[in-house]
Amino acid sequence: VRVTTLCGSLGAASANTAALSVAADYLHDQGRADTSAFEGLHDVPPFRADQVDDPPAAVRRLQADLEQSDGLLVGAPEYAGGLAGLAKNALDWLVGSASLYHMPVGVLSAGTTGGEYAIEQMVRTLSWQGALVVAVLGIEAPVTKMDEAGSFVDVGTVEAIHAWAAQVVAAFADDAAGRLVRVSDIVTPYGIDPARFGDLT
Ligand SMILES: Cc1cc2nc3c(=O)[nH]c(=O)nc-3n(C[C@H](O)[C@H](O)[C@H](O)COP(=O)(O)O)c2cc1C
Repeated sequence: VRVTTLCGSLGAASANTAALSVAADYLHDQGRADTSAFEGLHDVPPFRADQVDDPPAAVRRLQADLEQSDGLLVGAPEYAGGLAGLAKNALDWLVGSASLYHMPVGVLSAGTTGGEYAIEQMVRTLSWQGALVVAVLGIEAPVTKMDEAGSFVDVGTVEAIHAWAAQVVAAFADDAAGRLVRVSDIVTPYGIDPARFGDLT
C-alpha cells in the first residue's frame, strides 16, 4: 500500500507539514503503508485549462506520483477563511487527468481556528473530481501543540492524527459498500450527494 502526502504550505516551519509527518511516521511504523511526500508543489504553475492535455513537468510528476498511489493525505492551511490557493491550484490540475478518481483521501488543516473552511473547500473540490474523502481533521492553534522544534507533542493531537491516517488506510480494505458508507459519513454533512461517486466497485 502506497500513500502520497501533499502539503499546501511552503512554510519552513509548517504546522501542516508537521501534521502530515506525524501521519506518515505512524503509517510507516505500524507497517500500514509506505508513504512519500510530494515535494514539488512550488514548481506547479498557475492552472491553465488549455494545457491540461500537455501539462507542465511538475504537474506530470504529481499525476505520476498519484497514479502509483493507493491513497492521498492532504494538509493545507486556511488563509482568510478559505483554502490556501497553492493547494486549490494543484488540485485543479488533477481534474483532467482523473488521478484522484475514486481514491481514498484524508484532508486536514492546521491553523488558528482549525481551518474549517479550508477543510470544507478541500472536501468539495476533491469530491467534484471523484476523490473519496474518508477522513477530515482540523487542528486548532497548532503552535500551542508543538514543541520549539516544530513537532507535534500534544498527545491528543498526535492521537487524532494517527486516527485520521488510520481511517484512510482502513478504506483500502473496504468493499464498495463499505467505502460508500465511509465517504457518505464525511461528505453528506457538507451537502454533497454521495450518488455523485457512482459505482465504487
Ligand atoms: C494571511 C493569513 C490568513 C490566515 N487566515 C486564517 C484563517 O482564516 N483561518 C485559520 O484557521 N487560520 C488562518 N491563518 C493561520 C494559518 O492557517 C496558520 O498560520 C497555519 O499554521 C499556516 O499553515 P502552515 O503552518 O502549515 O504554514 C492565517 C494566516 C495568515 C498568514
